Amino acid sequence: MSHPEWLENLHLDFIGLDTRYWLADGRETRRHYLDSAASTLALRSAHHVAGELLHHYANTHSQAHFSARIANHAYAWAHEQVLQFIQADSDRYAAFFAGSGCTAPLNRLARTLAARRPERDVVLASLLEHHANDLPHRKHAGTVIHIPLTGIAPTLGAVDLAALERLLEQHRGRVNYVAISAASNVTGICNPVHEIAALAHAVDAWIVIDASQHLAHAPLAMSDTGAAERELDAVVFSGHKLYAPGSPGVAVVRRALLDGCEPDEVGGGMVEDVHLGDYRITAQFPDREEAGTPNIIGAVQLGAVLNVLQRVGMERIHTAEQQRLRQLLAGLAAIPGLRVYGDPDLDRTPRLGTVAFNLDGLDHGLVAAVLNDYHNVAVRNGCFCAHPYVRELLKPELWALDLDPDAEDAATLIQRRQGMVRASLGLYTTDEDIAALLGGIRDLRAQPEYYRAQYDADSEGNVHHREFATPTETLFDPAAALDRALAQLSASSGML
Ligand code: ALA
Repeated sequence: MSHPEWLENLHLDFIGLDTRYWLADGRETRRHYLDSAASTLALRSAHHVAGELLHHYANTHSQAHFSARIANHAYAWAHEQVLQFIQADSDRYAAFFAGSGCTAPLNRLARTLAARRPERDVVLASLLEHHANDLPHRKHAGTVIHIPLTGIAPTLGAVDLAALERLLEQHRGRVNYVAISAASNVTGICNPVHEIAALAHAVDAWIVIDASQHLAHAPLAMSDTGAAERELDAVVFSGHKLYAPGSPGVAVVRRALLDGCEPDEVGGGMVEDVHLGDYRITAQFPDREEAGTPNIIGAVQLGAVLNVLQRVGMERIHTAEQQRLRQLLAGLAAIPGLRVYGDPDLDRTPRLGTVAFNLDGLDHGLVAAVLNDYHNVAVRNGCFCAHPYVRELLKPELWALDLDPDAEDAATLIQRRQGMVRASLGLYTTDEDIAALLGGIRDLRAQPEYYRAQYDADSEGNVHHREFATPTETLFDPAAALDRALAQLSASSGML
């Protein structure tokens, strides 16, 4: 297929776009997947590449046979795609895979950077961080100080650069690194990572970027201008948020930060030689950072996605998504009693395709349940593993509840109100998906009492439909899927 043709159809090349479910009102409709900030759907052509590789599957620690050589070549290609995707110079940066999302690479980095400069015992992280870019630093790297955001709740903006400068000055000589998300998983709000890098580098602090919520949506390069001080030291991300479920977490790290100290994890495949009394670690990247057999298939699948996205161009993807985001924000703004969190001015505070909101007087759990059960719209609700940020955004409305802290039901009500509904976009999101979300919210807004009466809420804030329940095993049962596959085997071979 020629380049423009596949490009035109790329938004259709995802597995699960035609998944259908039966709803509480008896209809069977197509799912509208608006939960890409949690995990994206799989790009079929990348999944296909992984499937083809399985025909040659072998361990990358083997060398001699054809399949081992093929696996090694494909795995090295995946590393190259990662480096190219964020324009990291392969002489100065190493890419390595770890774990199943960005959590493992962030824990690794926290331990490694703390070990490199133990005298620097402070890490600055922003208030909008996902727990993955907060707790590892708290546990391994010293005291985490949270940098405030611009604006006031509920329309908080990005990292407050003046406050960051003050904190860097106040803790001069003690800040080991600054850990920042390129974009929030709650509001999609972007941080000016290269400006933050320049401020950090001015006091000899390093900069670690969690780009998990950014890379599927907009371009990000290690340096924006080529100026050394604006260059990022480490970028981590998750393949499962980049159309490659089952792929590993990724780290791209300045080699100088890893060189010369023992890798955080040790084991097979990363040593030159081992004796009973000692061992010698290889100087080769990425081998020295990847102890044990890697997730070869997942990494190659992710490499294939990154290759496709580079061919399309992330600028082009970003422009298209911004158009849809504006459409979504305009639709939400037109619904009375709906509050979108974070600064709504996209020119002042850029954001990617993720929007968190609440409806006056309706618990986030109820909104998400009605959207799912009656409209087949998949959104996430709650605090999205970013409790401090969500709590800060909600502060004015929790205060406005004016609860008596000693009242019996105060804690339950706070629990039920402490959260939001989040809709997030992917390459496959259509106008129809946005219309289904907006239509579902308008329907709930129009008859809240009817919907409230359909559900019971427990003390945790979880809501349960009084009559409609679809046991998930009736929708998908791994054992039944296996039986179907074995039946096909049986039919084709006559063996079983
Ligand atoms: N961290 C993922 C999210 O934001 C799971 O939903």
